[in-house]
Amino acid sequence: MIRIEHLHKIYQVAKRDITALTDINLQIEAGEVFGIIGRSGAGKSTLIRTLNLLERPTSGSIFIEDEDITQFDSANLHKLRQRVGMIFQHFNLLSAKTVAANIDWPLKVTGKYTAEQRRQRVTELLELVGLSEHRDKYPAQLSGGQKQRVGIARALANYPHLLLCDEATSALDPETTQSILRLLLDINRKLGLTIVLITHEMQIIRTICDRVAVIDDTRIVETGKVADVFLHPQHPVTQKLVAESHTFDNDANLQADQFKGKLVRLTFVGDITYQPILTNITAATQVLITILQGTISRIKDTPYGQLLVELNGSDEDIRQVFTHFDQYQIHHEVLS
Ligand SMILES: Nc1ncnc2c1ncn2[C@@H]1O[C@H](COP(=O)(O)OP(=O)(O)O)[C@@H](O)[C@H]1O
Ligand SMILES: [Mg+2]
Repeated sequence: MIRIEHLHKIYQVAKRDITALTDINLQIEAGEVFGIIGRSGAGKSTLIRTLNLLERPTSGSIFIEDEDITQFDSANLHKLRQRVGMIFQHFNLLSAKTVAANIDWPLKVTGKYTAEQRRQRVTELLELVGLSEHRDKYPAQLSGGQKQRVGIARALANYPHLLLCDEATSALDPETTQSILRLLLDINRKLGLTIVLITHEMQIIRTICDRVAVIDDTRIVETGKVADVFLHPQHPVTQKLVAESHTFDNDANLQADQFKGKLVRLTFVGDITYQPILTNITAATQVLITILQGTISRIKDTPYGQLLVELNGSDEDIRQVFTHFDQYQIHHEVLS
């Protein structure tokens, strides 16, 4: 769907150069929900805005469905904007227009549809985002979550193949955030739409993304499947973002010398999460396994677990336990 090659962006402000993107290379597949995470100022908004040329790259190429959009003239650009929808943190709705008129706007500017066709399409979109009863209200009469639903309906009006989301839930409370994320996932599945979203929150990535890229100080520092990046973050920035998401209990106040056995952190992904592995291993060896801390949850649709366990037994038996972990493909890290 998208291939970004050697993308650079330098802003010029009062004759000073400000680098926002350095040598970005990324490939995003059709139908994927792809997340880009990073701290404030890392270059996220600049990156996502280059994908519909709201920002012009300084150098490099961006292929969308095999066309290099950086070469587009204004006629092509017009068509690109119809193929690529975008939603924003602060919704960017027209305050003097009703909900229906906001959604109708992008349909109207194409000049392609009759008034009746547009009315039907708006009705369909209102239904899709669950706002049928609010069609004649003005943005000021809506909650934040409802405003973003209007933003989503408007972005989908012209049947885009790609939806860009710039911190689309950052202005919303946690519960509303979840309902908007569910709507995005629903749209991704129902319409097969590719979604690229940027955020500074790992929880959002974990809830709906298939793959993620971590951007720090203008560069991509890590890319991978969400489960891999989340459970085994490589770059220090990624490790911090995961730690701050408070998904895993931190073991900071766990004193290793309080335990006489071996402390081991286990990480497992997929169906194995719901198997009685520890019971099986205990039955097969003489080792006593005590769970000290743990999380069993999901990354999008993938179950995973992370447990801190204490192993008590002879060295030989503990070696056997590790062999079992390897057989079950349970990642294990000895802490003491
Ligand atoms: N229009 C602009 N003009 C000049 N500098 C900009 C502009 N937009 C962003 N920047 C700078 O580019 C860098 C990346 O910004 P941005 O892409 O907004 O990051 P993020 O979305 O990750 O917070 C920052 O140093 C920011 O100050
Ligand atoms: Mg931003």
